[in-house]
Amino acid sequence: MTAAIIGVGMTRFGRDLEHQLPELAFKAIDEALRDAGVSKEDIGFIAFGNVGGWSGEFFPLPIVCEYAGLNPRGGMRVEAACASGSAALAAACMAVESGYADIALAVGAERMNELASTPAIVELLGRGGNFFWEFEMLGLTFPAYYALFARAYMDEYGATEEDLAKIAVKNHYYGSMNPKAQFQKKITIEDVLNSRYVAWPLKLYDCSPITDGAAAAVVASERIASRLTDTPIWVKSQGIATAPANLTMRRDLLSIESVVEAARQAYRKARIEDPVRSLDLALVHDCFTIAEIIAYEDLGFARRGGGYLLAREEQTYIGGLIPVNTDGGLKAKGHPIAASGLAMIYEAVKQLRQEVDRGRQAPIKHGQALIHNVGGTGHFAYVTILSLEKP
Ligand code: COA
Repeated sequence: MTAAIIGVGMTRFGRDLEHQLPELAFKAIDEALRDAGVSKEDIGFIAFGNVGGWSGEFFPLPIVCEYAGLNPRGGMRVEAACASGSAALAAACMAVESGYADIALAVGAERMNELASTPAIVELLGRGGNFFWEFEMLGLTFPAYYALFARAYMDEYGATEEDLAKIAVKNHYYGSMNPKAQFQKKITIEDVLNSRYVAWPLKLYDCSPITDGAAAAVVASERIASRLTDTPIWVKSQGIATAPANLTMRRDLLSIESVVEAARQAYRKARIEDPVRSLDLALVHDCFTIAEIIAYEDLGFARRGGGYLLAREEQTYIGGLIPVNTDGGLKAKGHPIAASGLAMIYEAVKQLRQEVDRGRQAPIKHGQALIHNVGGTGHFAYVTILSLEKP
């Protein structure tokens, strides 16, 4: 049994104090239902990704269902830190694959700017690492974690701050063409290098921003997907892995073990031996520029220690070895935690259907795209392969 995505929706990402959480979720749901050509009554199950803490809705799922007019037979809130969107997709796929529902909805929504200022949000996010040892005792926050990874990587392989900056320039370049991105302006290497330090060696432009937004996908069972649309996007495989929260239990800081394992599972199930020759594009979890470089290696796009060279040689633009983050990535499109994984799914679906504006549309030769979504510092990893061809 397999599942297909038959509709997607997302809000314009950004700082949005105008819309409440249920309103944001509704906008994404409404667009996804219209895209799929199904009605609210058709939804048998909803998986709602939301981390919350920074917004007032403490038990958001019933309010979201009520506001959106949904009355599914079952539903659950899903949380896997920054990978909550992919976790919601996994739950929706399980619902249709098990026969529990014919059509399920995966939604991710976050209103990060509702209650708190940057320091408070950074503190809440910091609890997503190892709470007692690393947050309480050492005061590590996410920019600090990724600064440690960046420093270790630069020392080991000789990558420079300019190499990291190249990721930000690429992702802002694609963000400048994406009407749903938080930042729609191009930047230069100098802009990145001259921006203020957040956690050395990471600067403002090495970081993803704080974002409000929502994204959704309608998932249908194998039995009915092809009847509902001419272009079902099949969930060919999803590799899922976890790793210890405590950094001292990791082998090194230069790789995320859960990603390596999730990629192994996803490639095996999708029978992919050489990812760069089998995929048309990838959406990777660039919460910080160094994260994208490490992802190139963990996903097998580059050899160990060679990820920064892909950035230096601009091999991850359209026309290069493999296009990465054609939507602007978390860096420029924005990172509303639980919505981010489903926003990557949104982009991959639009790309595979060739519905993206010129300039951002990757050539579709293999009919396959990869989505890489990481929660915590690698506590959760989801690697999803979407395909035009039924597996
Ligand atoms: N990239 C580019 N520009 C950014 C930005 C980013 N990441 N974050 C904010 N800006 C811009 C704002 O739009 C604003 O521009 P303006 O003056 O033209 O309006 C300016 O920088 C100041 O914004 P502000 O919101 O005051 O910045 P800040 O210092 O409060 O927050 C960070 C900046 C980097 C600290 C914050 O975005 C952050 O913590 N990011 C990481 C979030 C995170 O850890 N997510 C989880 C990852 S796993």
